[in-house]
Amino acid sequence: MTHASVPSTSDAAHETAVYTHGHHESVLRSHSWRTAANSAAYLLPELRAGLDVLDVGCGPGTITADLAALVAPGRVTGVDAAEGVLSKARSVAVERGLENVEFTVADVHALDFPDDSFDVVHAHQVLQHVGDPVRALREMRRVCRPGGLVAARDSDYGAFAWFPERPALDGWLDLYHRVARANGGEPDAGRRLFSWAREAGFTDITTTAATWCFATPDERSWWSGLWADRTVDSAYADLAVSGGHATTAELTSIAEAWREWGTRDDAWFMVPHGEILCRVS
Ligand SMILES: C[S@@+](CC[C@H](N)C(=O)[O-])C[C@H]1O[C@@H](n2cnc3c(N)ncnc32)[C@H](O)[C@@H]1O
Repeated sequence: MTHASVPSTSDAAHETAVYTHGHHESVLRSHSWRTAANSAAYLLPELRAGLDVLDVGCGPGTITADLAALVAPGRVTGVDAAEGVLSKARSVAVERGLENVEFTVADVHALDFPDDSFDVVHAHQVLQHVGDPVRALREMRRVCRPGGLVAARDSDYGAFAWFPERPALDGWLDLYHRVARANGGEPDAGRRLFSWAREAGFTDITTTAATWCFATPDERSWWSGLWADRTVDSAYADLAVSGGHATTAELTSIAEAWREWGTRDDAWFMVPHGEILCRVS
C-alpha cells in the first residue's frame, strides 16, 4: 500500500488518517440508505438471535439497527470515531424501537473493550479510511470471542464502472484517489481486504465480492445528486481545495458533470466491494 503523502502509519495505536467524507448531509444521504440486506448480505447467514455484535465505524447506524433487530436479544454496540454522527444513529434506534443497541465513541485502532467481548465484529466501508487497516483488523480480532467472526466489506474505487463515459468523471475518480490517499486512506480497499486479513494473522478467511448497481431513474438521480453535492459542499470538497488537489472551479465542473450524467436515461453505475469473513480461533 502506498500512502505517498503521509508518514508511515505502521503500528499506530490511534487514528492517523483524516476521514475523507465527513458527515455532511450529502454523505449521510448515502450512508442512511444502507441496510444489512444491501450492505452485509455476506454476513447475514452467520447471524442468529442472542449473538453480541460490535459494529465499528457505524456512521448513522442504519446497518447497525438492522443487525440489532436480527440478533435480539443479543446486544449490539455501534462505535464511531466521530461523536456527532452518533446522535443520528441513536435516533434511528429510537425510531425503530430497538432496546438492545447502544452507541459510543471509539477508534478501531484501540477499542475500549476487554478481550473476547463480542461474537461478531463488523466494519462496513471503514478500513478504506483508517491509517492502519492491519492494526484495525488485529484490534477487531482481540475483542472477538474464539469461534466468532470478524467481518469487513469495502468498496474498491479503482474498480468502479459507469456509462456513459465522461472525461470529467474520470477526473472525479482521479481526484478522489489523490484526496483519500493524502488523507491516509486506501480507496482501492476492496481488493486488499484478503491481504490485510492475512497480514493481521487470520488463517480462516472466506472472501467474496458483491456490487451495488444504480440504474433506475431514482437510483441514478440519487447517486449523481449526492456525489454532485458532496463534491462542492462536504468536508471532501474542503480537503480537496485546502490540500491543493483541486480548485473550487474544478469541483464545480465535476459536480456539473455528475448532474448531467444523472439526467441520461441510459446511465448505469456499478460499485464493487471486497468482503472478508474471518473466523477467530
Ligand atoms: C463510510 S462511513 C461508513 C458508515 C457505516 N458503516 C455505513 O456503512 O453506513 C465510515 C465511518 O467510519 C468512521 N471512522 C473513520 N475512522 C474511524 C476509526 N479510526 N475508528 C472508528 N470509526 C472510524 C467515520 O467517522 C465514518 O462514520
